Amino acid sequence: MLIRNRRLRTGEAIRSLVRETAITPNDFLVPLFVVEGKNLKQEIASMPNYYRYSLDLLEKEVKELWRLGLKSVLLFVKVPNKLKDNAGTEALNPDGLMQRAVKTVKNAVPEMLVMTDVALDPYSSFGHDGIVADGKILNDDSAAVLAEMSLSHAKAGADFVAPSDMMDGRIFEMRTLLEDEGFHDTGIMSYSAKFASAFYGPFRDALDSAPVDAKDIPKDKKTYQMDPANRDEAIKETLMDIQEGADIVMVKPGLCYLDIVRDIKNAVNVPVAVYQVSGEYAMIKAAAEKGWLEHDAVVLEQLTAIKRAGATLIASYFAKDAVKLIS
Ligand code: PBG
Repeated sequence: MLIRNRRLRTGEAIRSLVRETAITPNDFLVPLFVVEGKNLKQEIASMPNYYRYSLDLLEKEVKELWRLGLKSVLLFVKVPNKLKDNAGTEALNPDGLMQRAVKTVKNAVPEMLVMTDVALDPYSSFGHDGIVADGKILNDDSAAVLAEMSLSHAKAGADFVAPSDMMDGRIFEMRTLLEDEGFHDTGIMSYSAKFASAFYGPFRDALDSAPVDAKDIPKDKKTYQMDPANRDEAIKETLMDIQEGADIVMVKPGLCYLDIVRDIKNAVNVPVAVYQVSGEYAMIKAAAEKGWLEHDAVVLEQLTAIKRAGATLIASYFAKDAVKLIS
């Protein structure tokens, strides 16, 4: 035998010397859930050890993230029911929870990169990412509101807006409005290949944002999010978003879609984000709780696999765990 592959695996020193992929704190974007109130740190039932924070505690949390070397956050807000409607009115409130959350983070840690979620679902009385009429999610009207929402976030101080809605043409609408209004440096991270996945359940618990069960209201998001069976379409969506002005593109969810991540990584020359979503988090937590999987090892293995597949950055609820494990 001339070639013995095991020579490169005889001990940790040689293994680490030839290791191709390493995760570092620089890889992570930390999703954060924000809620109205004071002194609130509410655990999300389907996401053990993950919380919604009121603004005062959000401030403490982002300081801790910064200390750990985590330099980017992605903000989501839980909107009280009484502020929800079918037009995204509250989403444009200059003094809304998101707008205040951006300022809170920037005040606490000015160097922290702040990205904001842009979609109507947390604000929608129907739990949809756009405006609903006649049993449909209106594309162009929704895109126009989403562009206004992006502008509002930019005015509040967001560094990047992150549209997670999947309306057609919304990146163009957003980029154009941001440019017209002088926000040349506000970036766009587009959820470009976002699949209609069953892994978003715990997130919808966290924000109370699931589509409502009512007559003439679509019960799922399949008319705008992509069919999990499709690959060519993921590339097409992504290339279009780049043409429309996206600075960073995204594949979401992570683990089930790593083939798409690699294809997109090979097809584009912009950073590729991967979102390891709430259901992926919940699965690991549940199995670990039962003693069926080794939590830390599985977390690191999955994150490494996401990066190996081609992720430039990873939005993950495990970001804090991961940096503690690798430090
Ligand atoms: C909605 C949005 C969702 C997520 C991010 N933004 C859920 C959905 O599309 O219903 C999911 C994130 C996760 O599951 O962690 N615009």
